[in-house]
Amino acid sequence: MDATFINTMKDAAGVPFYPVVFQGLYVLTWALHAAFVLLALGSMGLSIYGSTQQKSDPYWKILTPHLIMTGKISISILIVLGVAPLLFTQVIYDSGWYVANTLSGAWVFIFIYALVIGYTMYYWYQYSNKKGSSSNTLIGIVSFAILVFCGVLMHNFAVEAISPTKWMDWYAPNGVVDNSGWNMHLDPLRLGFMVSLMIPVTGIFMQNYSRFLSTRKDFEPKYLEFVKKLGTKMAIIGLLISAALFTVWMQKENLLLHPLSLTTVVSVVILLLLAMGNKNSYLTTGVLVIVALLISGVRELIRYNIMSGIGYDLYGYHMNLEWETIAMFLLTFAILGFTGIAFILTMAWKVGKTEGVYTATEGSAVSRLANASLALFILWITVYFGWGMVALFKNTL
Ligand code: HEM
Repeated sequence: MDATFINTMKDAAGVPFYPVVFQGLYVLTWALHAAFVLLALGSMGLSIYGSTQQKSDPYWKILTPHLIMTGKISISILIVLGVAPLLFTQVIYDSGWYVANTLSGAWVFIFIYALVIGYTMYYWYQYSNKKGSSSNTLIGIVSFAILVFCGVLMHNFAVEAISPTKWMDWYAPNGVVDNSGWNMHLDPLRLGFMVSLMIPVTGIFMQNYSRFLSTRKDFEPKYLEFVKKLGTKMAIIGLLISAALFTVWMQKENLLLHPLSLTTVVSVVILLLLAMGNKNSYLTTGVLVIVALLISGVRELIRYNIMSGIGYDLYGYHMNLEWETIAMFLLTFAILGFTGIAFILTMAWKVGKTEGVYTATEGSAVSRLANASLALFILWITVYFGWGMVALFKNTL
């Protein structure tokens, strides 16, 4: 295939910084997106099982609403974190992403509505579970199915975006243009592997849950032991399933002996050993983060190989260095981003460790981080809009 037309389709304005940096940011932010996708689906899936057990089992009665809450928060985070890789893929692989949106335009519309309906139903599920309604399990199953379907659609777009040699066949099968937007192309192995990861991710989350709450007097040690054991079992079984699927997927992609996939396999084995021993679940989580980054890297390697194989020159993307934009982006990311996240995490940690209602005292870390976040946010709004106005009107005034 001749990639001249794909190279010609590149944005004439160019990219504002070195493409390799966007590529790195893509890998980083997709890993974050995936982590919350997996936690959301895993905790929700397990909560559905819990909803069938909680009437007779006091431990499931405590755990089920906690899992539902974990899933609910994770969905909102996965949506926010999905935007970042979406932007980065549009910057460096714009042709692929827009072709996918053309081939599957109808599914793109459906994705948004499915997400709205699936997530709204989640709130209904939480409410009916709280009320003890008999239909709660059914509502949960429907909501879960819709959200999994959203993942299937995302997978469809990802597969189409990395299949440039098939674009013409899909767009005009037998020479007849099909602009219905109903194209759907799945890679069951890749999808199966991605989805299977929800089991170990949720298992490791439960090990953390048990460890984190062990300092609280209002949680019975036996209950925490139950959660820990279940989490460890899920982590071990889930990792074995995911590792098997990963190996077959890599074999199919001819990447099994590539250093990146070998590193991923070794990291998964280390993760498995750590999860089995469960001495320090926070350390296990650190290794899980590394594994997530490696998997994200493998995804990018597959795409890079396909695109460069047909002659797409990613690193030769025309660059229009704009230092103002870069400075604004990096300052926002590093200073506002990290301060804001530090505030939210510190507060969540303190709230979780406190029995009853937590109040931040004057001068405490939480209170200082809150004030710093607020001040930085006000400064950011002023600079962002002030700068924007100057850029907008400097040629007209
Ligand atoms: C419940 C909702 C969602 C689920 C279950 C989900 C799941 C997934 C999965 C499984 C993939 C990997 C597909 C593959 O590599 O084969 C993926 C990729 C991705 N998702 Fe999501 N996702 C959801 C919502 C979103 C949202 C709301 C956004 C954007 C705001 C988003 C942005 C992305 C992006 C940019 C990719 C990478 C696409 C590519 O590399 O071509 N996702 N998602």
